[in-house]
Amino acid sequence: MSFHAIVLAAGRGTRMNSALPKVLHTVGGRPMLDHVLGLAQSSGAQCHVVLGHGAEVVQRWLRQREGAMPQTVVQAEQLGTAHAVQQALPGIPDEAPVLVLYGDVPLIPAQTLAALVESARDGLTLVTVKLPNPTGYGRILRSFGRVFGIVEENDASTQQKAINEINTGLLAAPAGSLKRWIAQVRNDNAKGEFYLTDIVALAVAEGIEVKTVEASDAEAVEGVNDRLQLARAERLFQRRQAEALMRSGVQLADPTRFDLRGELNVGQDVFIDVGVVIEGVVTLGDRVRIGPYSVLRNVSLGAGSEVLSHSVLEGLIAGTACRIGPFSRVRPESVFDDQVHIGNFVEVKKGRLGRATKAGHLAYVGDAKVGADVNISAGVITCNYDGANKHETVIGDGAFIGSDSQLVAPVSIGDGAFIAAGSTITQTAPADQLSICRARGQKTVPGWKRPTKK
Ligand code: UD1
Ligand code: MG
Repeated sequence: MSFHAIVLAAGRGTRMNSALPKVLHTVGGRPMLDHVLGLAQSSGAQCHVVLGHGAEVVQRWLRQREGAMPQTVVQAEQLGTAHAVQQALPGIPDEAPVLVLYGDVPLIPAQTLAALVESARDGLTLVTVKLPNPTGYGRILRSFGRVFGIVEENDASTQQKAINEINTGLLAAPAGSLKRWIAQVRNDNAKGEFYLTDIVALAVAEGIEVKTVEASDAEAVEGVNDRLQLARAERLFQRRQAEALMRSGVQLADPTRFDLRGELNVGQDVFIDVGVVIEGVVTLGDRVRIGPYSVLRNVSLGAGSEVLSHSVLEGLIAGTACRIGPFSRVRPESVFDDQVHIGNFVEVKKGRLGRATKAGHLAYVGDAKVGADVNISAGVITCNYDGANKHETVIGDGAFIGSDSQLVAPVSIGDGAFIAAGSTITQTAPADQLSICRARGQKTVPGWKRPTKK
């Protein structure tokens, strides 16, 4: 039978002090809500999101998100977690198992979620965890080992506050039971809210045994209420990813100084130095090495390629044995064939560079189709923009572009052409010939004296 997940995401997130709804704050580059929906949907749940504060913004994000669109309901007034769950229940058949998840608990361990799904068909199951400092959480009340209730921090006695088994908020029960129990929940408590946690005592009163699943990782079920907890969730997520990568054979110089905000596919013996940030979808072939403090976004590098320190690469597909950096910048729609080398302060945008082409220093190669074995010397600029439109530069195989030359696009340089240093090229430079365009007439003035200081 299909089961459902109700994701609570209506709260204001006051402590974030942010214009952005809390559940859209990111962990590993993805909104927290995306993590929760991803986990729930991949376990087969039909999702319902309860929105409130920032509902429109979250809805707009949901519409452009990939994957199945969850149902959404708006809880106009945040009257408590029981009231929130109640908003989503009318759309769910009584016999369907339901999980209650929180939009701000993004890193639920897969095995904890699986255990919750497993037990959702009957009774009531809570995910709990023991914390050294349980302050702020609902405490699990037990008698002879059996759960008989949950008491919230604000309503707890000193004795109850000493209980260190807490309610993570994640729970599971059939929809019919939730409907029945929630209808009986009252708001006569310290906060004047309809507490979902009150359903525990109601279930017990019906003689139903309340089961618990202990979360396998306490840190992972800690909700995100403020920016400190958001940063902690980020570190936990990054640690998980880094460990998985290292187990698969990637060498990270320091797993605590590595950030993956997307998807990384790797070959064998890949080495990634400290401070590297990977975003989007990145593919690194065998023996690729990434130098310190580089950023790679949607990049694919062939076997044996190397990125030296402080390079920023986006939207690049490169072949094998390329050498990029230090201090290189590559912008989207760039394609390098094998053995391309670009060095310090070289920027490439929409550049196709042929096999073994080199631009060692200080160049701008934009909107350019460059052949194989081309040498682009220091200070070369493709002038691709006329103030209104972009134009293309085409450079043939084996051409040599001398230092400090400007290629004013649209322009084409033939195979084997040689452009003399300091030329401003505005017309086709024929193949295998020297083109030169400099101010003529360098003079040496006989008897000239250096000015002296007065
Ligand atoms: C809740 C639990 C507490 C548990 C803790 C775990 C209750 C009464 N208490 O407390 O036992 O230890 O979570 O973090 O359930 N929300 C809505 N609509 C509302 C109220 C809340 O959507 O009307 C959402 C919030 O956005 C949040 C979640 O429900 O994602 C939890 O609400 P919050 O107010 O943070 O509950 P806590 O007081 O932390
Ligand atoms: Mg909370």
